[in-house]
Amino acid sequence: MSLKKVSVIGAGNVGAEVANQLVCRELADVVLIDKLADWAKGKALDILTSASLKNSTSKIIGGDDYNLIKGSDIVIITAGMPRKPGMSREELIETNADIISGIVNNVKNLCAEAIIIMVTNPLDVMTYLAYKVSGFKPEKVIGMAGVLDTARFKTFIAEELNVSARDVNTMVLGGHGDEMVPLIDSTTISGIPLKQLADNETLEKLIERTRKGGAEVVSLLKTGSAYYAPAVSAVEMAETIIKDRKSILTASAFLSGQYGINNIYLGVPVILGSGGIEKVIEFNIGKKELEALQNSAGVVKDTIDKFEEAVNIIQ
Ligand code: LAC
Repeated sequence: MSLKKVSVIGAGNVGAEVANQLVCRELADVVLIDKLADWAKGKALDILTSASLKNSTSKIIGGDDYNLIKGSDIVIITAGMPRKPGMSREELIETNADIISGIVNNVKNLCAEAIIIMVTNPLDVMTYLAYKVSGFKPEKVIGMAGVLDTARFKTFIAEELNVSARDVNTMVLGGHGDEMVPLIDSTTISGIPLKQLADNETLEKLIERTRKGGAEVVSLLKTGSAYYAPAVSAVEMAETIIKDRKSILTASAFLSGQYGINNIYLGVPVILGSGGIEKVIEFNIGKKELEALQNSAGVVKDTIDKFEEAVNIIQ
């Protein structure tokens, strides 16, 4: 059986690591595109060489020619600027909207059947922009953030309670920003409600650390943002689609009334399978968490509204 074709746009830290994971785990044949053609070719050659040591038969090529992405099953977009210490993700909008519009136009023209996984920040706005520019069905344009934010929340809970992160079952909903909503009420550790294992003060601390989880890495690195965990999160989504797993995970999805939210992309639980987002799951998350989700939605909506140039691109 031949492997699926996945194109990764942007060969920076996140894109290169996404390509590396896809190839070394033999999940797909990969095209790595960057405006710096030789950089992408060099990364691809390096990754291909490492695949030979990992018994992977995946192929990878790099370059700047978008014709290479023709026929892709999935396109993972990582291009754009990462934030620097002290910056919010929203401050990246102007630079990244232009870059993303150009890329999505190429995707639309060259692989109209592909599923787009957006990784570039500000995540929910860029995913919305990709949806509008591509004209693809909403289930084929998906934002990666919930998997990453949930992984952070799991990690911090596990560290705090001295348990395995594997046993933590939880989700982080909302926009990929400081208002994201780590769910407490429905979180369990091997079936035991989190609320029975941690007091309110600890829970608040865990929520706050998760909301600032990306910034914590940025402030330590000083030149750029996290990339190992974001890359593995995007690959987790691609693998779920490739293997048609139909897992429920959190992703930025287009909402048309779910949770009382309309016409934006926001992190919610979805069933992910070969069709992309096969279903947005709406469940009773309780009044306080629902209000927090709607507040987060308001911030994403404001960001879209305020960015007039993006709106011009969208129209
Ligand atoms: C983060 C960036 C990638 O959360 O948004 O690390």
